[in-house]
Amino acid sequence: MSTAINSAWHLASRPTDLPSAANFAWRETTLPALADGQVRVRTIWLSIDPTNRIWMNDADSYLPKLELGEVMRGIGIGRVEESRDASLQAGDIVQGMLGWQHYSVSPAKALSKLPPIPLPLSAHFGLLGHIGLTAYFGLTDVAQARAGETLVVSAAAGAVGSLAVQIGKNLGMRVVAIAGGAEKCRWLSDELGADAVIDYKVEDVAAGLARTCPDGIDVDFENVGGRTLDAVLGNLKLGARIALCGLISQYNASAPEPGPANLAQLLMQRGRMQGFIVLDYLDRAPEAAEKLIAWHLAGRMHYRLDVSDGLESAPAALSKLFSGANTGKVLVRVSAE
Ligand SMILES: NC(=O)c1ccc[n+]([C@@H]2O[C@H](COP(=O)([O-])OP(=O)(O)OC[C@H]3O[C@@H](n4cnc5c(N)ncnc54)[C@H](OP(=O)(O)O)[C@@H]3O)[C@@H](O)[C@H]2O)c1
Repeated sequence: MSTAINSAWHLASRPTDLPSAANFAWRETTLPALADGQVRVRTIWLSIDPTNRIWMNDADSYLPKLELGEVMRGIGIGRVEESRDASLQAGDIVQGMLGWQHYSVSPAKALSKLPPIPLPLSAHFGLLGHIGLTAYFGLTDVAQARAGETLVVSAAAGAVGSLAVQIGKNLGMRVVAIAGGAEKCRWLSDELGADAVIDYKVEDVAAGLARTCPDGIDVDFENVGGRTLDAVLGNLKLGARIALCGLISQYNASAPEPGPANLAQLLMQRGRMQGFIVLDYLDRAPEAAEKLIAWHLAGRMHYRLDVSDGLESAPAALSKLFSGANTGKVLVRVSAE
């Protein structure tokens, strides 16, 4: 493909429930010439995230809403091919909102040059980057997690959840992991070190928490919300903290879900529930990266990638997050490194 021609997925319609390929339109356009301060980047890795679904809604979130017809927003890693800004050179590897497209033209200042790491480039999404920061600071900063405490992690076999489980273990916590399916639960207990698992597809979560947390929950790393969060609230210990990371069970809801029935337990147990967005921790990325890389190199932190090849596969890759077809981090390999 000539570098003058770009192909991209554009947002064509807004989903009313599960997102599908029908919500996107594939278009080819001619890339504009660079203006001063701009760079052209070839996308290598595209991160597929549950928040992509939030960005498709007709409402602002922690970022402005995406307009119909725009290139689908997405976090990517790519190589600078041409630069008209002194801060970046052709060949540099950068990360930023590259979008669901082969090439992007953006201001150099909107991108971050990635530091070299002793790991494959994809580890910037599997272990580090927004995924690692979310798990690390959600536990250490938002939840103030401490050794000896009981931690519950939902969507535990996913990208963020699988790191949160292992960070909890590295911090000396007792970790209970909730996930859907026997194979995910086996991975969590046999390979990632979870002390107990709840397969929510075969066991009621409230019953599972009563079974695995007889003394209650100190910390909940909440990725799911809905009935899972409600079950957690019903099993809190005095002074419990809930790091509200995500609510994936509600992202496809067409109407607001009822609030948790067990909210009173947050009051009775003097608990704290705090939402957080990883963007607020970007300036502390080196702190988390140092720890995560050290644990990984010591064999105490694993990550798994779920890779689809080709930009064409991005809509199908997004669907995996809501069917639970993924284990670990969902990525699209858009072009060769
Ligand atoms: N706050 C932040 O800054 C921030 C940053 C990144 C991610 N997040 C949040 O973190 C959570 C995990 O994100 P991720 O990127 O790591 O995705 P992920 O966990 O790799 O993938 C999503 C997983 O969620 C589970 N799931 C989907 N629908 C569900 C439902 N209705 N009920 C229960 N489980 C369901 C599935 O696993 P099962 O097979 O186990 O069902 C699926 O594999 C999401 O809520 C996301 O929005 C927040």
